[in-house]
Amino acid sequence: MERKNIIVTGATSGIGLALIHRLQDAGYYPILTGRNPRKVADLSHEIGIPGYQLDVSCEDQIQKTVTQIKADHGPVWGLINNAGIWLEGEFVKHSTKDIQAVIETNTLGTMLMTHAVLPNMVSMGCGAILNVVSTGALYTRKMISVYAASKWAIRGFTGCLEVEYAPKGVRVMGFYPGKVNSNMYETAGIDRNLDVAMTPEQAADMVIAMLKDEGMVWSHVSGRSIQDYV
Ligand SMILES: NC(=O)c1ccc[n+]([C@@H]2O[C@H](COP(=O)([O-])OP(=O)(O)OC[C@H]3O[C@@H](n4cnc5c(N)ncnc54)[C@H](OP(=O)(O)O)[C@@H]3O)[C@@H](O)[C@H]2O)c1
Repeated sequence: MERKNIIVTGATSGIGLALIHRLQDAGYYPILTGRNPRKVADLSHEIGIPGYQLDVSCEDQIQKTVTQIKADHGPVWGLINNAGIWLEGEFVKHSTKDIQAVIETNTLGTMLMTHAVLPNMVSMGCGAILNVVSTGALYTRKMISVYAASKWAIRGFTGCLEVEYAPKGVRVMGFYPGKVNSNMYETAGIDRNLDVAMTPEQAADMVIAMLKDEGMVWSHVSGRSIQDYV
């Protein structure tokens, strides 16, 4: 496929925004999406690439926006399910609204976005879907039950789709970063020391390496600062 359009969800900051730049540098055609229309419009204008408002927790918006992107730019070769939110604290103290928001964004959002683009990829016999998961999906610890659950579900989802769709030419991959120095914790009202975290650019570089190596289906890749082991 000549023109590789790649939709990035949650691309208005952190890993998603770093990815937009790295994808462009690597010769792909990134399509920036995000829940905040003002941020999407400003960034899309500033970078000079297409941008669409897309809240992944809203099924109607997913259907409408993916259809519009295909009409405007042709087939979608890649999808990076990056949009995500953090929730930390004792389980019983979370509001049910917060629990729902995490699952609707991190888990259902990833599944429904995948559902919207995958049929086309299968009919083309090529494509890549990369889910930004987390090391939180590889272990369990206190105070992150809902976030961990949202990502453990995606770890299972990714692994199953990996074997289901690789024979049809579509690579479904999971990227499992540890701490990344982004807005995620601050947005959730959590004060986190990120001195030992990866940068969003380092995370984006790993994703690009996974995407580019089309002979491989990468999974369970992570990076962690050496200082975090001291
Ligand atoms: N930071 C870490 O330590 C870490 C570690 C492992 C995995 N991850 C994962 O990495 C991914 C990216 O996070 P980040 O660290 O780059 O954090 P970030 O800077 O907060 O970026 C998250 C992005 O997702 C967007 N978003 C949130 N809810 C959305 C929704 N319903 N629909 C569409 N977009 C939505 C945010 O939009 P706004 O700009 O409007 O807020 C933001 O652009 C997430 O899936 C996260 O779980 C992060």
